[in-house]
Amino acid sequence: MKIVVVGGTGRIGSQVVSLLQDRGHEAVAAAPSTGVDTLTGEGLAEVLKGADVVVDVANSPSFEKEAALDFFTRAMRHLTAAEREAGVRHHVALSIIGVDEVPELGYYLAKVAQEEAVRASGVPFSIVRVGQFFEFVAPVMDLTTQGQEVHLPSTQLRPIAAADVAAVVAETAQGEPVNGLRLKAGPEIHRLDRLAEITLAAKPDGRSVVTDENAGMFAGIPDGVLTGDDTVDTAATRYEDWLKRN
Ligand SMILES: NC(=O)c1ccc[n+]([C@@H]2O[C@H](COP(=O)([O-])OP(=O)(O)OC[C@H]3O[C@@H](n4cnc5c(N)ncnc54)[C@H](OP(=O)(O)O)[C@@H]3O)[C@@H](O)[C@H]2O)c1
Repeated sequence: MKIVVVGGTGRIGSQVVSLLQDRGHEAVAAAPSTGVDTLTGEGLAEVLKGADVVVDVANSPSFEKEAALDFFTRAMRHLTAAEREAGVRHHVALSIIGVDEVPELGYYLAKVAQEEAVRASGVPFSIVRVGQFFEFVAPVMDLTTQGQEVHLPSTQLRPIAAADVAAVVAETAQGEPVNGLRLKAGPEIHRLDRLAEITLAAKPDGRSVVTDENAGMFAGIPDGVLTGDDTVDTAATRYEDWLKRN
């Protein structure tokens, strides 16, 4: 199959392209750095010629509410129009577990707008919602570091390795559209402050963790929202095992 991976040069996208190529597919990375820009539509018609499937794992360069909303809204308008024109038969989108239950997070509102555009596009689709990436923990810690203290709330997450995300996205792209959600997260539910403690125990850097229920973007999110329920499929990689290798 010809599978176009929008955002195919990014953290998830580059791994999805490799996995699909290993399975014998013609997987093509589409991104500004390869001459395809979903914000302007540049290069879309050409790259989608003959495409069976589009995987969209692009991301907004800014996580700020208005910028992210503008990114996903404009990108989806161009992308879905080009997909209809090209006769694409499956659109795979990557989203976040609980994304529609946290209206106070501007970036999540933008992802909900992206999901709505997928559903309204007329192109058969699968939306893969996953937990926060393991790779996201260290940057989240840095954002709320004050001196030698990492301030984070006890909000529950069910994080997942980016490699496990790429695997479920690639598998979904090779299957039939579900015209709904597919949910995947890591094997363990962690409190965010404890995740930071586990991280610093594995990689001490002089900082310590202070539980602060008002700190950072995940503050005040009720338990269960970002972890999902028992309909979530479990990925294999544990955070502590991943930390040893990364
Ligand atoms: N972080 C999390 O915990 C988490 C959890 C669940 C889901 N997600 C979702 O996972 C997805 C992928 O994230 P990631 O970390 O892999 O992203 P990333 O590494 O930042 O990669 C972003 C990709 O988007 C491309 N891109 C940027 N602007 C574009 C445009 N105008 N047109 C086409 N492509 C464009 C980039 O291309 P260039 O290389 O050319 O710049 C790059 O390939 C995102 O949609 C995010 O919402 C994230």
